[in-house]
Amino acid sequence: MRFTPLNNDENNDQPLAGPPGPESEPMKENSLTTEEKDANLPIGLDVGTSRIVAARGGDKSCRYEAQLNAFITLPYSKLTENLLTREDVFHEVFDNEIVVAGNDAQKFAEVFHVETRRPMLQGVLNPQEPHGIHVIRRIITRLIGKSSAEGRRLFYSVPAASDGGEQGIAYHNATIKQILIELGYEAHPIEEGLAVVFGEMCSSNYTGIGISCGSGMCNACLAVLSVPVVSFSVAKAGDYIDSHAAAVTGEVANRLRTEKEHGFRLNGLSTDRVKNALTIYYQEVIETLAYTLRAKLSSAAKLPKFDRPVPVVLSGGTAMPKGFLDQFIAALRTQDFPVKILEVRMSDDPLNSTARGALMAATC
Ligand SMILES: Nc1ncnc2c1ncn2[C@@H]1O[C@H](COP(=O)(O)OP(=O)(O)OP(=O)(O)O)[C@@H](O)[C@H]1O
Ligand SMILES: [Mg+2]
Repeated sequence: MRFTPLNNDENNDQPLAGPPGPESEPMKENSLTTEEKDANLPIGLDVGTSRIVAARGGDKSCRYEAQLNAFITLPYSKLTENLLTREDVFHEVFDNEIVVAGNDAQKFAEVFHVETRRPMLQGVLNPQEPHGIHVIRRIITRLIGKSSAEGRRLFYSVPAASDGGEQGIAYHNATIKQILIELGYEAHPIEEGLAVVFGEMCSSNYTGIGISCGSGMCNACLAVLSVPVVSFSVAKAGDYIDSHAAAVTGEVANRLRTEKEHGFRLNGLSTDRVKNALTIYYQEVIETLAYTLRAKLSSAAKLPKFDRPVPVVLSGGTAMPKGFLDQFIAALRTQDFPVKILEVRMSDDPLNSTARGALMAATC
């Protein structure tokens, strides 16, 4: 297997997944500045079903770099390989196929009218995808490179336990950790909901409920003074909305995703059947999340006594459409809630909140 990443200004990496071909360029995988490498600064990494985001820098000057966690395959030909190399396309030759990964996968999927494939499904490594581990390793390596010094601190997001999915989560976490250790990092997992608390709740002393509504999962965590008390994930989020809305409208999931990401608002039913389908499945996701949050808090063995109401922060791409916040608040209000809530607000930067929190945790 051979990756030929371009557009990078460093050249310190060796291939991790098999030998490079005779004509391939030496690996160039990261884009850190010399200052960052010298400083050996910590890194926050959000390993998401849909996007992988690296966060670097400090609280005020946090910088993000993201790649889609996706790929497509093209039949191998020398000409195609040369053209992709010339066009700076992030690609890899594997047997008789060319694997185009990361952000470039989406562009080429549109050109060739194919669906992108995903290394991850519902928050963890996709068991149906043989290329998954190699692709994810390459995307991570492209984003963060090899550690400049042994033991550079990195926190990476992992899903919290969901009812019934523990085995997949443990395997996923161990695999991502192994990739990061091979790159020379001192890698620590952080549950995604807790990362949101770290990223968003400095002003409440890291006490509150952090929620990330992503692509494969919604993750939530109630933390007190940065200590997680209750955390969980539910495997209904953006992908669930796309696939179910596609199934009832006869459309493909990609079209629904595009519609959802471009100006879709949650403001009741209308005459547009695609918007209606999105609305119905959005409501299901919101109600499932609110119900599970209430149930998990109510059944917690020892819920701390709070001397004041706690904030709730929503983040993640699925929480972004207008109307999501209001509907979530309405869903929470349908029954008594076991914890007094100060406010429910949206993150200012919902797509980067988890990576920022992971960086905060790595910096502490
Ligand atoms: N502007 C938007 N409006 C609506 N949905 C959006 C928007 N931007 C992204 N999304 C959706 O958000 C999801 C991706 O969100 P996010 O990047 O937070 O997920 P992830 O972290 O990769 O996944 P997970 O945390 O579940 O593993 C996708 O379903 C995508 O379609
Ligand atoms: Mg996420």
